[in-house]
Amino acid sequence: MALSSKDLIGLEHMSQEEITLILDTADAFRAVFDRPVRKVPIMRGKTVVNLFFEPSTRTRISFELAEQRLSADIINFSASSSSLKKGETLRDTAENIAAMKIDMIVMRHSSPGAAQYLADVLDASVINAGDGPHEHPTQGLLDIMTMRHKLGSLDGKKVTIIGDISHSRVARSNIYGLTKLGAEVTLCGPPTMVPGAMEQLGAKVEYDLKKAVRDADVLNILRIQLERQSQMVFPSNREYALMFGIDEDVLRTTKPECFVMHPGPMNREVEISSAVADGPRQVILDQVTNGVAIRMAVIYLLSGGDPGSLAGRG
Ligand code: CP
Repeated sequence: MALSSKDLIGLEHMSQEEITLILDTADAFRAVFDRPVRKVPIMRGKTVVNLFFEPSTRTRISFELAEQRLSADIINFSASSSSLKKGETLRDTAENIAAMKIDMIVMRHSSPGAAQYLADVLDASVINAGDGPHEHPTQGLLDIMTMRHKLGSLDGKKVTIIGDISHSRVARSNIYGLTKLGAEVTLCGPPTMVPGAMEQLGAKVEYDLKKAVRDADVLNILRIQLERQSQMVFPSNREYALMFGIDEDVLRTTKPECFVMHPGPMNREVEISSAVADGPRQVILDQVTNGVAIRMAVIYLLSGGDPGSLAGRG
């Protein structure tokens, strides 16, 4: 089995089998992390360009680490010191980079559709590292990988996503991926951040936080994205924390085995209290570790790697 596209733009059009292939391949790479030498020579001679037009800590470093661990050659592009500042278009920038015979582009951009646009005009593989509020597929995959490690099969499991759903590419990729694997997804937040129309994506909408968390197996808490809001959609951070923030009092109303995730970066004491963020029920740093394995798997599979040949590497 192989991926059907040369690109990874989102999970919306990916099959359950393709998602499972990436998760299984990531598990094989994850096993390498505990070895003294974590590098494998699989991408030797291939070049990957990282194009980040928006700030990033986790995703940028995680992709770069994944590329290094696969022994790829890496170019990091800085938009602020590029010819984009002189008026060059994204297409011209990308075509010039591709003319240097690179194999893959990883791109984060503020415009939904930017990754698809590049994928359509370039022969090189394009991986979407987040395109505005549209999708962040590797974040969705690393979240699902972390849930799968904790819960086993996701079929019938209850995942509650809390926060700024309407601005969230992470929420969209989670919803698409989780529902394909049989999970029941509930979305919760203020109505200004969780439009009822989101139910069309296959998730349930619940505005009462107590009801939304009561039967959940996992809470995936999203960051309030102040940078994507043209006007405040809730009165104050304090009010949001009181109504929808996840603290120890909220956790006491969940099943004892329910665990907590957050894609980062966190607004501590707004959507999540520090006691929860650093507490025994969170798996936030496991998500970050799994992110490297997911990105190794995606890069490997898009490069035509044979997952069968990874057997025994762990
Ligand atoms: N989760 C995530 O995408 O984090 P960064 O913005 O730091 O990459």
